[in-house]
Amino acid sequence: MMNQDLKFNLKHIWHPYDSMTKPLPCYMISYAHGVHLKLKNGIKIIDGMSSWWSTIHGYNHPRLNIALKNQIDKMSHIMFGGIIHSPAIKLCKKLISILPKKLECIFLADSGSVSIEIAMKIALQYWYSLNKNKKVFLTIRNGYHGDTFSAMSVCDPKNSLHNLYHKFLPKNLFAHAPKSSFMNTWNHNDINSFLNLLINNKSIIAAVILEPIVQGIGGMKFYHPEYLKQIKFLCNEHKIPLIIDEIATGFGRTGKMFAYQHANIIPDILCLGKALTGGTMTLSAIITTRKIANVISNNEPYKLMHGPTFMGNPLACAVACENISILQEGTWKIQIFNIEKQLKQELLPLINNSYVLDIRILGGIAVVECKYSVNLKLIQKFFVRHGVWIRPFQKLIYLTPPYIIDTFSLTKLTRAIKYAIHNKLLFIK
Ligand SMILES: Cc1ncc(COP(=O)(O)O)c(C=O)c1O
Repeated sequence: MMNQDLKFNLKHIWHPYDSMTKPLPCYMISYAHGVHLKLKNGIKIIDGMSSWWSTIHGYNHPRLNIALKNQIDKMSHIMFGGIIHSPAIKLCKKLISILPKKLECIFLADSGSVSIEIAMKIALQYWYSLNKNKKVFLTIRNGYHGDTFSAMSVCDPKNSLHNLYHKFLPKNLFAHAPKSSFMNTWNHNDINSFLNLLINNKSIIAAVILEPIVQGIGGMKFYHPEYLKQIKFLCNEHKIPLIIDEIATGFGRTGKMFAYQHANIIPDILCLGKALTGGTMTLSAIITTRKIANVISNNEPYKLMHGPTFMGNPLACAVACENISILQEGTWKIQIFNIEKQLKQELLPLINNSYVLDIRILGGIAVVECKYSVNLKLIQKFFVRHGVWIRPFQKLIYLTPPYIIDTFSLTKLTRAIKYAIHNKLLFIK
């Protein structure tokens, strides 16, 4: 029997990427702690997703909770126009301390997608200020940058969540995605498609925008650092700003604090989100070079025309600050190293399964690419029955567990994937 709350949910509440008439099953979670989610019936399941890359230190982290509690009695929110507060100052100082010197002008925004909008506005306004008509963005196939309009316009136009909307969006340029993977040798031909588009359109390109190393929802592919290195070189050569979207990869997930560090480059505009607050609240940050900020700011009477109501929210800033303090203590490096090692040991042998096409593991990310799409409704139920929370999409079953996960819990996650792969009924052939 479905309880009243679930019935209400079914009738009235939209869920991400879902239907109001034929929604996917939904689970009521009453409590979350560490790596555990507690279902309404009292059963605990192990979280393999970190709430979409965000709860890196686990749920209900005592230090993050204290940071929130300490701040809430001072002020949970105050407008940012004409006002500054200590949580924002402390957070921005912290961000500057963990970023390359060149990145020093910070805009605090609401969510990952909004940060992409702002980064793209910054690039457009930069060229407008220089009196140049550069309005097009260059990116690569298989990318994903969020669900708002400009963000959707740089998501893969076919192979993404947003192909339906592409006819309504501004037209941007898409190079072939690189074939050289992170683990394999670099094929120098991989840069050709990007290079051709850049050379043929450089007079109209406002910026290049990329996810660094890991392409997330667009296919969970890990590309070769040399690709990013060469792109940065070309951007420098042609004086085109490079926007790096670290919303999913930032804060240690790939084994480096930021994934662009695998390629030893420095972005011109950087977007952070998701794990910025340790997954407790929504907050994003766009960080630019002084040069970009000055060009925009010196073109009077224009200013950067963006200012969300909840900009620099003190609660979010306070908890983000504590999140970065935890990361600065460095335990995450050992945690990610151990997670990667265990994921490799336990998942790589699956490559021999006839339903498996590829297995990719990098830092705290594991991807099992199947030959067939999963039946999300069935596989979700299957995973919950096996005591884990894993939410695959299309042909991809993936894990991004909290960094604090213990070996036993991680084995429960990988074992559940193994059982799922052996259950042919969970796939749509
Ligand atoms: C790489 C990347 N960029 C942007 C976004 C959008 O962030 P948000 O969901 O906070 O709007 C996401 C979300 O999954 C992402 O993975």
